[in-house]
Amino acid sequence: MKKSGGLVTGALALFIAVPGWAADVPPPWAYGFHMPPPATPAPAAAPAPAQAPDPALYGLPGAKEKFTRAQIANRFGPADWFPGDHPTMPDVVARGRQPDVFACALCHYPNGRGRPENAPIVGLPEAYFIEQLERFRNDERKSADPRKANTGVMATIAKGMTEEEMKVTAAYYGSMKFTRWVKVVETDSVPQTTTSVGLFLPVAGADKEPLGQRILEVPADVEAVEKLRNPRVGFVAYVPRGSVRKGKALVLTGGGKSPLPCGACHGPDLKGMLNIPAIAGRSPSYLVRQMVDMKTGHRVGQGTELMKPVLANLNDDDMLAIAAYTASLKP
Ligand code: HEC
Ligand code: HEC
Repeated sequence: MKKSGGLVTGALALFIAVPGWAADVPPPWAYGFHMPPPATPAPAAAPAPAQAPDPALYGLPGAKEKFTRAQIANRFGPADWFPGDHPTMPDVVARGRQPDVFACALCHYPNGRGRPENAPIVGLPEAYFIEQLERFRNDERKSADPRKANTGVMATIAKGMTEEEMKVTAAYYGSMKFTRWVKVVETDSVPQTTTSVGLFLPVAGADKEPLGQRILEVPADVEAVEKLRNPRVGFVAYVPRGSVRKGKALVLTGGGKSPLPCGACHGPDLKGMLNIPAIAGRSPSYLVRQMVDMKTGHRVGQGTELMKPVLANLNDDDMLAIAAYTASLKP
């Protein structure tokens, strides 16, 4: 390949154009950014001008109640659009506890399916769930990308929780099954996106752009997800052509890179085993983020030790392919 200016294409051009994007920088797409962090941190952005509250009431098809946007995004009692879709929420899930424990339902939804910028937490083994809250509390789960602020928010929440709250939230979310939530599409070109607090949002009417070597996970319906937080509307993950097949080989055999196939610990169908979490059908951005965080020592602990030899020889492209494949599986 010629390395002169405009002839360098795709991801490589991006790579060269961005100062400080060394090979060991976490893949920005998994953390909700278009670009890696600059070598010198950018000065904090000026706070967005306060917007006049929107007094309108919004509804969703099939929902009995209507809510204002302030109610939809209330940290201590977000709108519960479909109370019939889930068991009765414990207080800490529905309303949280002032001042630091935001309602789990705000980010992970009452059904626990969550969004790419946080995590799917439905159907996790209870012991694993509680252990992760302890890790966040002990600063043993941090983000490899220092800009990912909501990992810090999750840690603050865990620090504010009682042991009892950890147990009831684990039992509540563990009592529900995860069903399909991400649709995987292999493609070369994708909608242009903006980002909003770690979530990529397609720009209406804009031209397409090359996908390159990344996964782009976006709401299946932007308004329903971003504005109204509709917990019945899932996500589309655009992945590079051929990545699902490549990922399948790595997952099933280790591809000469992982000493064990993933199913040895995550269960033959990757739906989890004992206290090891499922990886089938879960957000691919979330999964890659966790693999990178574990590999780089930002997420540590006993269970993580078991993942270390698995991750040691996997590069970003391997992880991308693995996540493209696992996301395509039935949870
Ligand atoms: C402000 C948004 C927010 C709220 C509210 C929130 N979380 Fe989280 N949670 C996150 C984010 C973000 C992550 C993933 C962090 C990352 O990717 O680095 C996460 C991850 C988790 C995980 C790890 C899942 C896994 O597979 O390892 C658990 C468990 C969890 N949250 C439980 C809770 C509980 C219980 C509550 C309510 C008390 C809660 N969260 C409230 C943002 C939130
Ligand atoms: C030797 C057992 C073992 C093997 C093999 C293994 N894992 Fe894991 N994995 C674990 C354990 C244990 C955890 C929980 C880590 C913790 O407690 O922090 C985990 C956690 C994860 C997580 C984080 C999930 C979450 O909810 O945050 C991902 C992603 C993951 N593994 C992917 C894989 C992939 C992909 C493979 C195959 C290439 C694989 N694992 C092979 C044991 C294993």
